[in-house]
Amino acid sequence: MGALAALLLTGLLAALAYVLPLVHSLLWVPHRLECRLRRQGIRGPPRSLISGNGADYAALTAAAQSAPLASFHHGVVSRVAPQYRVWPARYGWPFVFWLGPRARLVVSDPEVAKAVLTDSTGTFNKGSIGGGNPQARQLMGEGLVGLSGETWAHHRRVIAPAFNMERVKGWLPEISAMVSSMLHKWEVEGETRAEFEIDVHKGFHTLSGDVISCVAFGSSYEEGKRVFQLQEEQTQLVILAMRTFYFPGFRFIPTKKNRRRHSLNREIRNSLRKLIEINGLKCEDSKNLLGLMLLASKTDNGFKMEVEEIIDECKTFYFAGKETTANLLTWATLLLALHKEWQDKARDEVHQVCGKHKHPSADNLSSLKIVNMVLKETLRLYPPAVFVTRTATRDVKLGKLDIPAGTQVNLPIIDIHHDVDIWGVSAEEFDPSRFADGKSYHLGAYFPFGIGPAICIGQNLAMVEAKLALAMVLQRFAFDVSPSYLHAPMHALTLQPQYGAQVLVRKI
Ligand code: HEM
Repeated sequence: MGALAALLLTGLLAALAYVLPLVHSLLWVPHRLECRLRRQGIRGPPRSLISGNGADYAALTAAAQSAPLASFHHGVVSRVAPQYRVWPARYGWPFVFWLGPRARLVVSDPEVAKAVLTDSTGTFNKGSIGGGNPQARQLMGEGLVGLSGETWAHHRRVIAPAFNMERVKGWLPEISAMVSSMLHKWEVEGETRAEFEIDVHKGFHTLSGDVISCVAFGSSYEEGKRVFQLQEEQTQLVILAMRTFYFPGFRFIPTKKNRRRHSLNREIRNSLRKLIEINGLKCEDSKNLLGLMLLASKTDNGFKMEVEEIIDECKTFYFAGKETTANLLTWATLLLALHKEWQDKARDEVHQVCGKHKHPSADNLSSLKIVNMVLKETLRLYPPAVFVTRTATRDVKLGKLDIPAGTQVNLPIIDIHHDVDIWGVSAEEFDPSRFADGKSYHLGAYFPFGIGPAICIGQNLAMVEAKLALAMVLQRFAFDVSPSYLHAPMHALTLQPQYGAQVLVRKI
């Protein structure tokens, strides 16, 4: 009897030891945080105790994406990120919404964006990707994008030299050969027709996949193709995970989706392991991304990188290097197809600077001012990264805001980029002259690549690749928006066209 009682008591204590911390973190901490935000007048949609506003968020997004926009215009925030239009209209700015027990405080004030992103004291932690949901971290959460603290600083030090401007310029011949080959495929696709339709979204994805494979890993799109394909499937599962509440331990339950998540992860890691084995040696010589990381795996100076860490970074760069730049090029081409006066101006400039047939070079790339302005305006209206997030590691005051520890601060790049108070009444119009020489904007008002210590490490590569590719497209083709194009910008980790980007092209 005594033994049974002892057993029951032990069981009860064990259950309490599990349940109490859970109640504390799932109920008590969020409640206290909510009260503190409410005292400052910060409100948001009513939340359910366990899932927060996950269901509302998913419903808003589904409704917004259920039909394309009626015409090709640039007032796209309510379709891409309806939470930045619907909720502030009801609850004002800043507002708060909840994904499970985690508060997302959405602030669209450039001063706050600047203060949060340039913080170097550790008050705002970068590693909040996935919002505490390990299933949302699978795509790139354990690489630079999702790391924080010492490990992040160490990885950043090892990797940064692989993407400095000198190195990027050194790759111009390879990148222009890849663009040439893409344009040749377009020509072949057109056969003898004077005008034909191309989905540029697909072409640019293959191109940027090819570029990142070559410059970072010394390989090709074909070699990395399996990783790209698997990552596409993984992206869908990650988006699902990001929009739903994660109950601790759920990932170990063998549901159909969880089993697929595990097998995708395993296959991606195995493919990358093989790729590293095949390309490792030649990469060490060329000191590209993979080479620098492999060298760091052999040092004894306390900055050693383990093979598993290298694989995590490969996952990150395969995804971040391909998606973002492909989307920038896609939107820039669509915008020039719609705004023909800018297409003509940009083409005239390319002809003047590079001639009709020569590829742009390291020397004349910086003279392509109009092409650069077009890309910057594209990044304003259609930023591939729609928002960035940081988690407050301690209670902190920013102006009038009193941010409790544990709050995720969500900085809506796309909303700030479309803000009439910053950009004037023409905020939703395509006007590259905003970025004419000498014009600059508040750091927290225009930040498609982020700002501060974690600013995009691939920015040089992205801009050089985009400039080069757009200039070469302009040299060879004139283009219009195809009647079959449906304007449906959608946020699926990056900002992309939901039904592709069909343009009608003519050889020139
Ligand atoms: C138009 C293209 C691109 C855009 C708009 C873009 C945007 C961004 C933004 C906004 C951030 C900052 C995220 C934050 O502060 O939390 C970021 C970080 C990052 N980007 Fe990009 N990116 C682009 C291209 C690339 C390319 C080509 C690569 C790879 C070569 C890349 C790799 C990364 C990595 C690894 C980080 C994390 C940096 C860190 O935390 O230290 N990005 N990017």
